[in-house]
Amino acid sequence: MSLPSDIVSPLLAWYAKERRILPWREDPTPYHVWVSEIMLQQTRVETVIDYYHRFLERFPDVFSLAAADRDEVLAYWQGLGYYRRCEALHRGAAAVVSEYGGEIPADFESLLSLPGIGRYTAAAILSIGFGIAAPAVDGNVLRVVTRLMNRDDCIDDERTKRAVEGELREIIPEKEASAFTQALMDLGATVCLPGGAPLCSRCPWETLCAGKERWEELPRRKQKKSRAVEKRTVLLLCHEGAVALRKRPAKGLLANLWEFPNEEGNLTEAEISGRFRGPVAFLGKAKHVFTHREWHMTAFRVDLAEKTEEPGLLWVKKEEIAAYAIPSAFSFIKKEL
Ligand code: ADE
Repeated sequence: MSLPSDIVSPLLAWYAKERRILPWREDPTPYHVWVSEIMLQQTRVETVIDYYHRFLERFPDVFSLAAADRDEVLAYWQGLGYYRRCEALHRGAAAVVSEYGGEIPADFESLLSLPGIGRYTAAAILSIGFGIAAPAVDGNVLRVVTRLMNRDDCIDDERTKRAVEGELREIIPEKEASAFTQALMDLGATVCLPGGAPLCSRCPWETLCAGKERWEELPRRKQKKSRAVEKRTVLLLCHEGAVALRKRPAKGLLANLWEFPNEEGNLTEAEISGRFRGPVAFLGKAKHVFTHREWHMTAFRVDLAEKTEEPGLLWVKKEEIAAYAIPSAFSFIKKEL
């Protein structure tokens, strides 16, 4: 199968007029593209913008990022979620410094060998950051292409992804690789929408699109596995202007991040009172959805008469809490500080 080459010029003409103004497009160095693409995995553009500015102010190049302390890098990521991608970016920066003298490599295989860089990110860095004709295929691009071609291939299949990548490689223009990649991204984000009816009247491919009547069915996806639900009780332990934090294990969910002490089960106020000296107040309930599980949390504040000697707790003054990377699952507790 192949994609018709006459889709290229209307796409580029549309992009020239309609492209989104985004901070990482102002000076798309390979490093800027790398940082933005990692942030944009799983996170919406509007959320990323502020994080991107703050991150680059503190880590303006691959050297400053590589030299930084991991906890500090994580603190700049706090609230973006999916923290493993941040750790991978940090390790990737260290690898670029140690293995490539700080120059991000301009070839696909070397980029793929770096932590956290898969085929999509490698191609995005090559095409946007270096102007090399490498097609970047993510879920948005797969949606746009399968609708355009009216194809029923399941876009979760690796075979489909590779096939689309191969077809795009045939038509991506050598001199406009960056615009081509970003045009596909913008088309997927602003016209051929993921969550509702596509805005076909604004699409540069409106007259070429074979699947527009079938937008509700396309693209085809594999059925998602249901998520495990975990009940947890979270404690805001307070003593003399300080609160207790705990570092999560180095492996698994939210690895290495800081959390408010919490445990399995939804405990009652009476159960908490029986365990500590000092008044207990119910703070609320919250739900947080991860990729493979959900936490259904109940939270209590305990004003301790004296600090508990529980191992692993770190007492942090409320004013200093911003220096600790606490995942957004606990935002509802941080609000109480
Ligand atoms: N989504 C993923 N990468 C993007 C980019 N570079 N610009 C806009 N949206 C994106």
